[in-house]
Amino acid sequence: MDQTDQKKNGIKKGALIAFEGIDGSGKSTQIRLLHERMKKEGVCCETTMEPTHSPIGSLLRQILTGQLRADSRTIAALFAADRLDHLLNEENGIVKPIQEGAVVITDRYYFSSYAYHSVDVPMDWVIQLNQQAREILRPAASFFIDVDPETAMERILKSRSHQELFEKKSYLIQVREKYLEAFQKMRDVETVIRIDGNRSETEIAQEIWSRVCDEVLHFSSLSATM
Ligand code: ADP
Ligand code: TYD
Repeated sequence: MDQTDQKKNGIKKGALIAFEGIDGSGKSTQIRLLHERMKKEGVCCETTMEPTHSPIGSLLRQILTGQLRADSRTIAALFAADRLDHLLNEENGIVKPIQEGAVVITDRYYFSSYAYHSVDVPMDWVIQLNQQAREILRPAASFFIDVDPETAMERILKSRSHQELFEKKSYLIQVREKYLEAFQKMRDVETVIRIDGNRSETEIAQEIWSRVCDEVLHFSSLSATM
């Protein structure tokens, strides 16, 4: 990254790359493949996710699996709190490794909040809730794995024994629309890279790797093939 990019993304060194998409879009699969590729190239890289494994993240998982119930505003606020802990926790917050030069890949970041919660509450309020996180760490890029909700739902039903709170086709259709609305709203201040996720894992991984090299980390010297 050059100095201008570092300034735009609010970080001194290293970078955060976020993966976004509806449930079942293939984020985890692509993160695993990108991480393997980065390691092969000798890049200092780690992966992480939201909700996190912190006490706030555990509370959220209990809500997502239906063990606890909460109002949608409470859920949105808990996700914002979990995100701040993800950034700032003294033991495992991600701001520190990024400042020290690591590339961190996260499975979901604040665009997930904008999309999922604005189905029930105003998007501007959700954006406001996440303002601190945005000021602390803006992703170098957010990859949006765009998958047809019908396909995503089929994948979820095939691969999981139980469905979580938001894993219904009608909800995922609305979440996808909200993602598109959020990207449009933030188009001048965020770098969003849309990837067609209705293809094979290998084809998607190849496009992501080439765009990471060319547009995000500017690895012109690395091989562009997977
Ligand atoms: P997410 O993390 O976005 O929920 P996953 O990576 O866990 O998605 O993928 C959900 C399911 O779909 C998994 O069983 C995975 O193996 C499968 N899957 C992922 N990518 C593809 C793809 N491109 N084509 C077909 N199936 C896929
Ligand atoms: P995740 O474990 O990534 O689910 P999946 O692998 O199926 O995509 O995320 C759990 C759920 O949490 C998912 O339904 C999206 C939701 N979520 C929010 O509602 N708000 C948020 O801010 C985040 C990060 C996730």
